[in-house]
Amino acid sequence: MLARTGSFTAVAAGVAVLAACGGGSDTPTATQAADGSLAKVADIPVGGAIAASAGGQKILLVQATAGEVTAYSAICPHQGCTVAPGNGELDCPCHGSRFDLTGAVLAGPAKEGLTPFDVRVEGDAVFAGA
Ligand code: FES
Repeated sequence: MLARTGSFTAVAAGVAVLAACGGGSDTPTATQAADGSLAKVADIPVGGAIAASAGGQKILLVQATAGEVTAYSAICPHQGCTVAPGNGELDCPCHGSRFDLTGAVLAGPAKEGLTPFDVRVEGDAVFAGA
């Protein structure tokens, strides 16, 4: 339903990079690579996540166990804020909802988990789509 199989607007960067965010946030963020990948697997911490974007949609790329990458919409089901990678979980900065690395609610006020987003690993990179 949320999977995109179409083309992406590739960022001019040649490789996926981790970029330090401005504005006082240290949320790791992937920049889409010229090959259309969302990130390199190695850029996603094992037992953690990074923020990324796919076709303009904010997503979270999760590597709960080494080599297995899943993704979720970063849009909080509570009131639509952007959920960010936390310490082994996914955290909404607006009202404190917390999600585990499967997108399930750990703490509200969100009552529903994060919406899955289809990704696949090809080689050392993560691409949108099943
Ligand atoms: S919008 Fe995420 S907890 Fe309220």
